Amino acid sequence: MKTIDLDTVDIHLDPPDFEPQRQYYFMAKCREYVRAESSRLGRPLTCGVFTFGCQMNARDSEKLEGILRTAGYEAADSEDADFVIFNTCTVRDNANQRVYGRLGELKGRKRRNPSMKIALCGCMMQESSVIEKIRTSYPFVDLIFGTHNIYKFAELLYHSLETEGMLIDIWKDTDRIVENLPVERKYPFKSGINIMFGCNNFCSYCIVPYVRGRERSREPEDIIREIKELTADGVVEVMLLGQNVNSYGKNLNHSMTFAELLQEVEKIEGLRRIRFMTSHPKDLSDELIQVMKNSQKICRHLHLPLQSGSTRILQRMNRRYTKEQYVDLAMKIRSQIPDIAITTDIIVGFPGETPEDLEETIDVVRTVQFDNAFTFIYSKRTGTPAAAMEDQVPEAQVKKNFDRLLKVVQDTAREQAAKYEGTIGEALIEEVNQEDDGAQSCQSLVTGRLSNNMIVHVPGDASMIGKIVRVSLDECRGFYYMGTIRP
Ligand code: SAH
Ligand code: SF4
Ligand code: F3S
Repeated sequence: MKTIDLDTVDIHLDPPDFEPQRQYYFMAKCREYVRAESSRLGRPLTCGVFTFGCQMNARDSEKLEGILRTAGYEAADSEDADFVIFNTCTVRDNANQRVYGRLGELKGRKRRNPSMKIALCGCMMQESSVIEKIRTSYPFVDLIFGTHNIYKFAELLYHSLETEGMLIDIWKDTDRIVENLPVERKYPFKSGINIMFGCNNFCSYCIVPYVRGRERSREPEDIIREIKELTADGVVEVMLLGQNVNSYGKNLNHSMTFAELLQEVEKIEGLRRIRFMTSHPKDLSDELIQVMKNSQKICRHLHLPLQSGSTRILQRMNRRYTKEQYVDLAMKIRSQIPDIAITTDIIVGFPGETPEDLEETIDVVRTVQFDNAFTFIYSKRTGTPAAAMEDQVPEAQVKKNFDRLLKVVQDTAREQAAKYEGTIGEALIEEVNQEDDGAQSCQSLVTGRLSNNMIVHVPGDASMIGKIVRVSLDECRGFYYMGTIRP
């Protein structure tokens, strides 16, 4: 990422009123504060960024971390830090509950370290009921901001450091995209890249369009430039991120399709692998299938959320495809790209879902043979159309249906995984395997990811991290492989 020379910023002038220079100015101001505070305390100041939710939040957290590190904070790996920020998710209620639980634990830490600052941001903060609850039940929180003004983090941080009490800044929406802020990546060899923000689909159960705002695509030049900078910095795999990448480019001045963007990304030298998330079935084009098929770099994995296999429920979900359209699309992709892994998301217990509807979903799982599926229990989100539907399914019925679906999903995933036994693939080695593996415990193992997103453990050491190696998939153990390196 662009390195910023904060020494060239004159913090005695007024702040610039254009971005991102205004934020650089506040990073420099924060740095001055951090320096003064750490010389007062006789130790460095530390920060902890904790992420809930999806890859988009994970990427946002890398930006928060980048700004904190630029301001002079050192990374702490626990919540025992001088500045702690939770980047929150509100897609299902259990995500919210986890945030409240962790926040409760922070109260004691702050008592022991009175100069500690606590901040909250992300999707949950876009809900006014959440803000009210924090005001009354967690008054020790110092800074709250939302998803639309995250680019102003340096400015908000500075004001929060300089003042006492709770600072809250939440915007309803934005049409802005601010480029060129610092980023601290979690992995040196792979990275997420936002290609678009927000969502216009309004699936009836989903809160995301309300908390992330309307769909906005980044300019292709900005995306390509960012990926080139990343590859120059050692990144070999990128994941293009958006709530619905298949509608990329529609609101640009010079409109461009997602498939066209992929072809541009493919040309980037040094880049070895391209992934993307998430594809909405209603917008997945034949052009995209052809581009994936002919690509050397696009991974053999497609995440294609089904949500339900019942056309009646899909209609109530406002998904805008039928069971048959989904199955036809998945089968077309399987026939065009035979070695592709198709994974999905399924919601159980959407209002009005009957045992017959569940059978329809199970039928799709069996027909498409998903390589993996994330199954979620429907969570009522205030303000969404589904929350107002009258026929909410009783909890006991949902639990029963969930268990039944999970079993089919797991059996299918195991069958799919076993297909590759004895074949050779390429794996990007991501980390040293933390778990001791029984008989092989005397030998150290590393964990790699295949193009189709499956995990393989092979003998090796930390020096292999970030490398793409040929592996033979010797033994399938349920959902992952034990393998060996091949020349
Ligand atoms: N944009 C992506 C999904 C983002 S949310 C897409 O359309 O595919 C990730 C997943 O969370 C969704 O695919 C859905 O399965 C699940 N989800 C969203 N809202 C939910 C809710 N209210 N209850 C349960 N699961 C939900
Ligand atoms: Fe939510 Fe639907 Fe948008 Fe995905 S496409 S984020 S499920 S509204
Ligand atoms: Fe959660 Fe927000 Fe992502 S609600 S799933 S973190 S877009």
